[in-house]
Amino acid sequence: GENILGIIDPNQYHEDAGCVIFNDKKLHIDQWIDATNKLVAPGLIDMHVHLREPGYEYKETIATGCRAAASGGFTAVCAMPNTKPVNDTSQVTEFIINKSIEAGFAYAYPIAAISVGLQGQSMCEYAELKQAGAVALSDDGKPVSSPQLMRRAMEYAKILDMPIISHCEELTLSSGGVMNEGKVATRLGLLGIPNVSESIMVIRDIALSELTGAPLHIAHVSTYESVRAIREAKKNGIRVTAETAPHYFTLTEEAVGKYNTHAKMSPPLRTEKDRQAILEGLADGTIDVIATDHAPHATTEKNVEFDKAANGIIGLETALPLGLKLVRDGIFSIEMLIEKMSTNPAKILRLPYGMCKNRSADLTIIDPSYLFQVTPETLYSKSKNTPFEGWNVQGKAILTMRSGKIIHQA
Ligand code: DOR
Ligand code: ZN
Repeated sequence: GENILGIIDPNQYHEDAGCVIFNDKKLHIDQWIDATNKLVAPGLIDMHVHLREPGYEYKETIATGCRAAASGGFTAVCAMPNTKPVNDTSQVTEFIINKSIEAGFAYAYPIAAISVGLQGQSMCEYAELKQAGAVALSDDGKPVSSPQLMRRAMEYAKILDMPIISHCEELTLSSGGVMNEGKVATRLGLLGIPNVSESIMVIRDIALSELTGAPLHIAHVSTYESVRAIREAKKNGIRVTAETAPHYFTLTEEAVGKYNTHAKMSPPLRTEKDRQAILEGLADGTIDVIATDHAPHATTEKNVEFDKAANGIIGLETALPLGLKLVRDGIFSIEMLIEKMSTNPAKILRLPYGMCKNRSADLTIIDPSYLFQVTPETLYSKSKNTPFEGWNVQGKAILTMRSGKIIHQA
């Protein structure tokens, strides 16, 4: 009806008196949903999530992670392969898909490993992994240090039309570092990780994508120099896309404060200059995607000395309000937010989402004025490692629907 704030689909949603229509075909929703003063968007897609199963079920399971995703407004997530065993076989790929279907919340699309066991030595059977349902290839958590291995992987990825998702980190430059290199690290007496350990690999992988023609996606961009390199590569027509995570556009190294391990992740939080560059990259389209890098860890792995603490924070249930804050701050439009959280990931991974054409409904109804406090008790994720604990945020998915079925309702 006319009270709906808007139906956002950068492609082709139209709205008509409470029904969702696209391409002149109505979507039949079994029950009446009151979307007065709400935004109706295509289901959000988080293309970078660590679900931890198999192997680390004490941190998160596929069921708890996909439940948390639905609560965050996501109808689909992509599961990174650094599980135990690593997702480097069709068996693990199929296991993840089946578990997520069984759980019945957000759908999990597996991302398979580039190298066997994430060891950076030999390539996996990409065709077989694709056949089993893997949508991309990544050694995320670790870089592919060998340029030759990355070149060969890209040659296969090109043929198979599978994006290579690169965790850009040059290990001799980042070695020993636990936070951003700079004045905060110096004050705290911690070893730093310089920006160049990321950007040098961004530049290498852009060169390899130019050589091979493979689709390259840069994971969790955190630096000024990476944004600049990706912008330049796109200008030159190289097949590169990029993502950042809400913590990189919301926080800086200052969040480490007095050794706060909830501000420790890889890559690390950077400076205000980097944060501003990321905002510019988001606004001008250099950064295509907002993904969470949802990385659950147990309290026992975070409640330790900063040096020893695990890298990563959860993100599924805070991404949408942090993204909506950028819209309120005038960084970009609500349409661009939905592009970066749904349509662009769908395009990059060739997923049947974002555009809901000829499919049953995957959609997210967002209340942009919904105020809530981030508290451990209200988070569905099994782990509670978030630097946003206690924050008062605005904007929430009040209903998430996957394949016409309600998987979350606030
Ligand atoms: O902070 C991180 N945590 N960065 C990564 O690349 C991996 C992730 C994890 O698996 O915990
Ligand atoms: Zn990750």
